[in-house]
Amino acid sequence: MSEPILNELPKSAIADKTSAIAVGVQVSDLVFSYPHQGIILQNISFTLNLGERVALLGRTGSGKSTLMENLVGLKRPNSGEIQILGTTLGPETLFQVRQQIGFAFQDPNNQLFMPTILEDVIFGPCNYGVPEALAREQADQLLAGFSLSEVAHRSVHELSGGQKRLAALATVLALNPDILILDEPTNGLDPWWRRHLAEILIQLPVQILLIASHDLHWVSRVTQRALVLKQGQIQVDQPTIALLQDRPTLESCGLPPDY
Ligand SMILES: Nc1ncnc2c1ncn2[C@@H]1O[C@H](COP(=O)(O)OP(=O)(O)OP(=O)(O)O)[C@@H](O)[C@H]1O
Ligand SMILES: [Mg+2]
Repeated sequence: MSEPILNELPKSAIADKTSAIAVGVQVSDLVFSYPHQGIILQNISFTLNLGERVALLGRTGSGKSTLMENLVGLKRPNSGEIQILGTTLGPETLFQVRQQIGFAFQDPNNQLFMPTILEDVIFGPCNYGVPEALAREQADQLLAGFSLSEVAHRSVHELSGGQKRLAALATVLALNPDILILDEPTNGLDPWWRRHLAEILIQLPVQILLIASHDLHWVSRVTQRALVLKQGQIQVDQPTIALLQDRPTLESCGLPPDY
């Protein structure tokens, strides 16, 4: 496998615009339920500051994906407010906010829908007005960085599980987001790619990184702060390293660190 080079990732186009704002994401009293079901998220309030890399942890079914999908406007809360870089999330601001947030779904099949992977990677930038030639150039670079050049003209169904994960990440990075939200990004990746992805994420010129993961050791290398969801609420908010060493708290959240 050739050594991927991703240190040439494009700089955030609007980083300067946001540099005056210290708070990147503010969630206030968010409540969410699916139709005909009990409350999944209740009275969630937290702030993500610019420059933070944050883990979102919690047992299977604790609501991590649901919370992330609320943050990117794919789901609407029953009540409460979400502010992204100073803008309140709502139907009228969704288009603007979506240009600032990149979101990688837990299931990469939800991200990849074009006939080929290359078309998937250029789809977003072209949609936001980037000339196709430039979008293609950037896509070629990203796909090469993820060792996907040889499969660029294949459909998602012709990729391995790990390749799908990396291709989905490439589509998100192609949008050059200020805030990057990744839902279980190491699923399906081998140890070499997990290490390399950690290196990539730490170097990315994004303002905020939020990562849902069950991979406690990996996530403690990438993030500085951890939020833990339990019973629909954020029960823990502390430095990731400290949490990883705090076995009683991890066990009380249903997260035994050795498994
Ligand atoms: N589309 C849906 N309709 C109804 N209920 C849903 C839907 N999606 C998720 N749920 C329920 O909401 C709860 C939270 O699910 P969610 O996917 O957010 O959990 P999670 O923390 O991401 O879990 P995992 O670690 O398995 O990815 C679960 O009880 C789940 O069954
Ligand atoms: Mg999930």
